[in-house]
Amino acid sequence: MLVKGKTAVITGAASGIGRTTAETYAEQGANVVVADVDREGGEKTVEGIEEAGGDATFVETDVSVAADVESMILTALETFGGIDVLFNNAGIEGPLCEFDSYEEDAFDRVVSINLKGVFLGMKYGTQAMLEDGGGAIINTSSVAADAGVIGRGAYAGTKSGVNGMTRVGAIEYATDNIRVNAVLPGIIETPMHERAADQKPADRLSRYAVSESMPGKGGPEDIANAVLFLGSDLAKRITGVTLPVDGGLLQQP
Ligand SMILES: NC(=O)c1ccc[n+]([C@@H]2O[C@H](COP(=O)([O-])OP(=O)(O)OC[C@H]3O[C@@H](n4cnc5c(N)ncnc54)[C@H](O)[C@@H]3O)[C@@H](O)[C@H]2O)c1
Repeated sequence: MLVKGKTAVITGAASGIGRTTAETYAEQGANVVVADVDREGGEKTVEGIEEAGGDATFVETDVSVAADVESMILTALETFGGIDVLFNNAGIEGPLCEFDSYEEDAFDRVVSINLKGVFLGMKYGTQAMLEDGGGAIINTSSVAADAGVIGRGAYAGTKSGVNGMTRVGAIEYATDNIRVNAVLPGIIETPMHERAADQKPADRLSRYAVSESMPGKGGPEDIANAVLFLGSDLAKRITGVTLPVDGGLLQQP
């Protein structure tokens, strides 16, 4: 068991990558705080973990609201006595829309969840980890941070920002036993991917559609396994890394 006895807080854990990562951490011996705006989905994640013999609790959290993020971290301290791993994973894709027609409100919403949400997690997560002797933070970025994915201007901006905050955090806390890394999922089969696949790019841009180099698609377990490694002591010298899990998508010319 790679994370036995550790406590992991996972945002966006009611669905997709977050849920599978919560299940993976629980299987590997961690206590899990399942955080999400979606109460029904979050409670379902907890139920699944408990049925499999693991330990988890749900906390309703909007990652764009400071008070929610603060109480999410407090839940870990009060329920399980500490925090070892924080996976800042909640995110939205926003509209598929070129810049000339991207609505300002939609931009603000993507930024508040994908960028501010990770900022708040890092703020309250590091405060608790500084008190608790250290820990590992993993942020969910995207290949969209490092490649021009059409129609995803706001989304790409937030994910590039996540990479930047990851690097800064790695250095700020390098002497405090706090590691900060990011994963960059490629095309992963989740409800978000299904929604995104239904959004159609403008015809004149369709030749820029992205695909992975390896055949098939990644599954949420591919991300969960990378996050498990980065949160475990196997990765004790790894910090500031932005790790693509993308079947070679970013290596394409
Ligand atoms: N699926 C992919 O292909 C892919 C690719 C690259 C990056 N990502 C990233 O992976 C992460 C997880 O995506 P997924 O594919 O599992 O999507 P998903 O839609 O299946 O799950 C996202 C979860 O985040 C939650 N969420 C949304 N807004 C929230 C908020 N304000 N506060 C708390 N929770 C909130 C949702 O309720 C949902 O449970 C996201 O950050 C996404 O940008 C996904």
